[in-house]
Amino acid sequence: MKDIRLALVGFGNVGRCFAQELRGSYARALRAAGVKVRVTGIATARHGLAIDPNGLALYRARRLVESGRSLEGLGRGRQPGSVRQLIARVPADVLVEISTLDPRHGEPAISHVRQALNRGLHVVTANKGPVAFARGALVALARRKGRFFLHESAVMDGTPVFNLVERCLAGCQVIGFRGTLNSTTNLILSRMEEGLSADAALAEAQALGIAEADPRNDVDGWDAAVKGCALAAALMGATVAPRAVSRRGMGRLTAGEVRRALREGARVRLVVRGERRGGMVRVRVRPERVPLGDPLVGAGADNVLMVETDLMGEIGIVERGSTVDQTAYGLLSDLLRIVREP
Ligand SMILES: NC(=O)c1ccc[n+]([C@@H]2O[C@H](COP(=O)([O-])OP(=O)(O)OC[C@H]3O[C@@H](n4cnc5c(N)ncnc54)[C@H](OP(=O)(O)O)[C@@H]3O)[C@@H](O)[C@H]2O)c1
Repeated sequence: MKDIRLALVGFGNVGRCFAQELRGSYARALRAAGVKVRVTGIATARHGLAIDPNGLALYRARRLVESGRSLEGLGRGRQPGSVRQLIARVPADVLVEISTLDPRHGEPAISHVRQALNRGLHVVTANKGPVAFARGALVALARRKGRFFLHESAVMDGTPVFNLVERCLAGCQVIGFRGTLNSTTNLILSRMEEGLSADAALAEAQALGIAEADPRNDVDGWDAAVKGCALAAALMGATVAPRAVSRRGMGRLTAGEVRRALREGARVRLVVRGERRGGMVRVRVRPERVPLGDPLVGAGADNVLMVETDLMGEIGIVERGSTVDQTAYGLLSDLLRIVREP
């Protein structure tokens, strides 16, 4: 059995779910791949940091954070005083970057990823900030270091979006994409169709753990804009800054408009589009009336992405529902790729 040591930066909804599954349903897949996983370090913003070279007690770590207590005291040996120190010192093979998204600058996650790659760690992330703002440079750095920078769960949770295009569409060029990629607004809009208020639907998304830490980033279209830029970077090789996205959120939509659209045969969804025009790739986020029957029409928190290619026409992929488990699965699938393709 090969031993793989993980350091987690961020131990929120995704981190705790991932940690739980490492000891639960992921154990079989990891065993089958011939690996034994230990989490040797965890960093948070307000719940402390801890390193244990032998592996942290994950159940205790979850209990501490879930009851609002600090991880300090859980570690063994010399403990780090900052996230930077943890990344510099933790005995680890892979850094899992799952801290809060900063949609304006992508920091400090980009610095976490860069520091870990420079140190010779692989990096797996669900944080779309580093992908949207700095994917080209981070992939190049990872290549120079002979390491992986993988981010399958940054868009559509664990649904294979980046892997689909990179690994299954050999020879194709992506001309454009359109998607309903923000689970929170998908859920809110579909609950508004059923007569629920936007506030009550947002509370449901928060209870499910799928809303961003600051849910204004969902409602105002920032999360969708950053995802659009991450897709533009990975699928189309284009650098588009999230602030350059033509962005309109769902803030001004009323329940009346949403229900009227449904009566008239359409669902209102926050749609992100990327298209190449001339030499430029443009990304746009808008509430749109999507006709019933269009593949973009999902139900509830469903995410849908349609990718237009030169050789394979338009293809699509749907994520039924959207749960934190699906995001955690994306981290596992990236981890297994590192194990299988060293
Ligand atoms: N939830 C989902 O379904 C989902 C889906 C796809 C992608 N993502 C992405 O995955 C990431 C994590 O999401 P989440 O739902 O787990 O978020 P979350 O519940 O808000 O947790 C964020 C975690 O990051 C920590 N953190 C924040 N700033 C930090 C910093 N500067 N250094 C170290 N740790 C820091 C927080 O510490 P404290 O606990 O001390 O505040 C917390 O442990 C985000 O980037 C999100 O966009 C989430």
